[in-house]
Order: sequence, then structure tokens, then C-alpha cells
Amino acid sequence: PRAVEGFPEPTVHSQVAYPPDSDFTSRWTRADARQLKAMSDPAAGPRENSMPEEYTAPTVPISFPDMSGGRVWVWDSWPLTDSNADQYSYKGWEVIFSLVADRNLGFDDRHTYAKLGYFFRKAGIPADQRPENGGWTYGGLVFPEGVSGEVFEDQSFSHQTEWSGSTRIFKGGNVKVFYTAVAFYRNAQGQDVKPADARIMMSPGKLKANAKGVSFTGFETHHELLKPDGKWYQNGAQNPFYNFRDPFTFKDPANPGKTYMVFEGNTATVRGTPACTAEDLGYRPGDPHAEDLETVRNSNARLQMANVGLAVATNDDLSSWKFLPPILSANCVTDQTERPQIYMKDGKYYLFTISHRSTFAEGIDGPEGVYAFVGNGIRSDYQPVNRGSGLAVGNPTNLNYATGFPFDPDFNQHPGTFQAYSHYVMPGGLVQSFIDTVGTKDNFRRGGTLGPTIRLNIDGETITVDRSYGDGGLGGYADIPANRHANPGTFI
Ligand code: FRU
Repeated sequence: PRAVEGFPEPTVHSQVAYPPDSDFTSRWTRADARQLKAMSDPAAGPRENSMPEEYTAPTVPISFPDMSGGRVWVWDSWPLTDSNADQYSYKGWEVIFSLVADRNLGFDDRHTYAKLGYFFRKAGIPADQRPENGGWTYGGLVFPEGVSGEVFEDQSFSHQTEWSGSTRIFKGGNVKVFYTAVAFYRNAQGQDVKPADARIMMSPGKLKANAKGVSFTGFETHHELLKPDGKWYQNGAQNPFYNFRDPFTFKDPANPGKTYMVFEGNTATVRGTPACTAEDLGYRPGDPHAEDLETVRNSNARLQMANVGLAVATNDDLSSWKFLPPILSANCVTDQTERPQIYMKDGKYYLFTISHRSTFAEGIDGPEGVYAFVGNGIRSDYQPVNRGSGLAVGNPTNLNYATGFPFDPDFNQHPGTFQAYSHYVMPGGLVQSFIDTVGTKDNFRRGGTLGPTIRLNIDGETITVDRSYGDGGLGGYADIPANRHANPGTFI
């Protein structure tokens, strides 16, 4: 990509692959991430989208339907998948897992009350023949009460939650739910008396299906797989606001016999350490728009130190894992690279991860959305897609105006600024996400339900929104279709 006037050139990335257990970590640099602002139209007026249309999701209407019929708040969601990220129905039923919380809570209070719930619906019905809200039946909570909190040595937590992950399906309806167990230790004023404790977990269970729907048994055993080591992955002693969660497992055809996991982490420095390097800034020699390293690393940008972690299973039942070095860092770029996933297409490896406008570092700006990096292996010198920026698809956003909040949109912001988050990329380039807020400061509506599925054209360094999909680019609400069908006896 060529430099935009007034902006630096993005970093050169080779896409070259390294062995998964080697210590090469690719960088999403400040030079890369500044391409986001470079593609924003400085003349875009109030409530207009300032970002290129091809990387922007179509606007979600404020009249969106609710998938649980008002029963629960719904956000991060995922299907039943195999080691190749193919999505399965089971005995004629599609099944999804979602973080859920009681509707009596405010939507922004959901995080400390999250539990894993599930939904099911009949497989094989085209989206346009389903009810507008996707036609899911809410099945209830996945785990028996209390079991996901037993892992914590300190049982004095004030809140204990189940955060995101992924679910693998095996022969005979056996499933393994990978998730994040989090304990909060807060006082009556809601302040932390000690940092939250996050562990990556796995629990095995069994899926049952009959003519009426699906249910689960099992989930009595919860294996602790990983807790942050403070060496590659930041822990609570280093930073009370550390991020460690969202396991996604897969196999790599280039490294047969092994199962890997990507997850959200942070670079393991003590919070506030001016740790960014010239490589994290990533400017080409002599770039007139390069920043001064000392200035950047002593600015507030030093507080945003995201990474994407890698781990490998050390036994066949996936109950024991070890860390490998991170595959991507975003030091002094953003603090959150959430719900990472590896997506393979035409011999290329895509690392998708979600990030917020509000978690970008000082001097960096970009929309709420899903970001993507392409390379030749799971560990490679990843090339951020789309003009070197990393943006795969963002919410319609105006970077000329303040971000606002989902509970209090900025007056000048586009009504779609918070329309989607926690995107999950599915086979065929379909992308599902949940609705946070749709609308403007004077007229907005909170979501807590899955939004319309969209489709991306994924082609190497270029990823664009397919506006020929669905209705002007918007497909069915909560549409998470299986692309494989498992029946007893015929299964993986
Ligand atoms: C993304 C996320 C995940 C986490 C969950 C907690 O929406 O921040 O990283 O698992 O929400 O609610």
C-alpha cells in the first residue's frame, strides 16, 4: 500500500510462516493502525460514516427483533464446531452457545453476571423462511449451578461468571466446552478488593436430541487449562485490568496431530512500563510521519498492550495445555484483541479478532469491528488486511466525532457506531455479531440480541463487505447456519 498524504506508510510484513513453537511474534504496529485514520474522510459530517463503504457493515435498523423474546440478554455467541471450524447440526438441530444474563439487569451490568446459555432450532431452513428473529428456542443454562466457580482457590468472590469460548463436537454427541471462568472480588461499592481472576477452562458434556429439541448432560468436571503466566501473558499482579480469555481451538493441516488454541491476552509487562519498541511503532526508515519512540512509549499509549495468545494441547482429551509465545502483539496500539479465531482459506491463514474504538491507544483511532491479519501459517509475519490497516469490517462510524457510549451515544455519531460487536467469522465468510446499541443520542435502543448476519469476501490482503448478500448486505438476524450435519453413526 502507498502512503496517504499526511500519514505514514504501513509496516512491511512478509506473511512468512514460522514454526508454531518458535518465538516470532508478529506486530500490528502503530504505522499499520494509523492507516485507519488515513482512510477516514475528514469531511464526513455529523451522523455520517467517515470510513470506506467497502469495509463498513450496512446499517442495522432500530426495529431489530429480539431472539430470546425478552427472556435473557444475549451477547457473544458461537456454534458447535469441529477442528476445522466447520459448523454442525446434530440430529437435525442447530445449536448455539451464548453469554446470557437476566433481563432485570442493565445491559452494561451483564459482564459480572454472564453465564453460558444455549439455543437450538431446526437445521436446513433458509434464513428467509425463518421467523425474523432467527427462530431459536432458548434452552437455558449449559452448566449445572455453581460448578464453574469451583476452580477458584479463593471462594470469597463477589461475582463469578462464565465468559467466552468455543464448543467442539466429537463422535456420539460428545462435546467439549472451552470457556473462561472469571471470579471478581468486589466490595459493596463495586470496587475491586483484589484483581479479577480469569482461567481458561474446558468441560466435557454430551448433547442429546429428540423430536422436541436438544439438551445436555455432563459438565460436572471442569478442567483448568491455563492461567496467565506473567511471562508471555500478563496477569493480575502485573495489571489489575489484564485481559485473558476467549479460547478458540483448531487443528492445523501443516502441523498434523496437534490441537492449538488462540485466546485474548496482554503483553506481560507491569502496567505503565514504557515497554514499546521501535518495532512496535513499525515506521519505515526516513518516514516523515514517523513518531518519536520516547514520546509514544511515555504517553498513555503504553497502557494498551494487547496480544493474541497461542497454546498447544499436551494430551488427546484436550484437558492439558501449554503456552506458546503470542502470535500477534498490538503494543501501544490497542488493549484488546478479543475472541481471536484462525480461519483458513485457499492456503492462507487469517487471524480474526474484535476490537473497540475505545480500547485503541492514544494517537490511534478506528471503528468498533473485526480486524484481520493474513499470513502463510498460524505463526507468521501477519499482514494486516485492507491498505495495511487491519480493519476487516467496522460499524459505520465517524472518526471526526467523539466515540460516545453505548448507553449515551455522542450527538454527532452515526446511529450504527455500536450496532455490532463480538463478531464471529463463519464458513463461507458469514459473520455474526450481537447488537449493543442502535440509534442516535436522541433515539436509541439497546440490543442484547444477535444482529443480522453479513458476508465478507475474503481474498488475501483484501476483505470487503458483500452488499449483494441478503437485503443490501444484511442477512437474517441471529443466522448461524450449520454447514455440516451430524447424525448418529455418520460422524467425525
Ligand atoms: C467480548 C467480551 C469477551 C468476553 C465477554 C465478557 O464481547 O469482552 O472478550 O468473553 O465479552 O462479557
